[in-house]
Amino acid sequence: MDKKKIFAVTSSAVILGMAVYFSGNSIIRAANIDAEMLYMSHCKTCHGTDGKPTDLGEGLGARDFTDPQWQTKITDEQIIKQITEGSAGQMFPFKDKLSEEEIKALVPIVRGFGKKE
Ligand code: HEC
Repeated sequence: MDKKKIFAVTSSAVILGMAVYFSGNSIIRAANIDAEMLYMSHCKTCHGTDGKPTDLGEGLGARDFTDPQWQTKITDEQIIKQITEGSAGQMFPFKDKLSEEEIKALVPIVRGFGKKE
């Protein structure tokens, strides 16, 4: 490789790196939302690691996500609405904490608990 090429390759790598850095990692984040991690950091306190409500969740009236009847009854739209808006006195809304994409990405996680039975 001649010097010009090396310079071109290195400087485009630097520019790309800077673009990622200054966009606050949003290029990387938008591409792969780690929905499982989102669930573990935002939902498991009440809904448990396996979709069964914790003592706290149960006390508030949370449902068992592994219940096949519950899974059939609820629609994806209702799951999205619940996460976005929450329900008074039971579950706080996540619309200010999570993006629309992140909320949508949580649907398959909630569905996944139903399939493990
Ligand atoms: C403070 C405890 C708490 C946290 C944190 C919490 N929830 Fe809930 N959630 C509840 C309770 C209580 C209910 C039952 C209330 C209801 O169904 O209206 C519920 C209901 C739900 C429902 C079902 C609604 C229905 O109509 O059956 C879904 C889906 C859900 N939560 C998903 C999530 C997800 C995903 C997260 C994380 C982003 C989360 N929840 C975080 C307490 C919590």
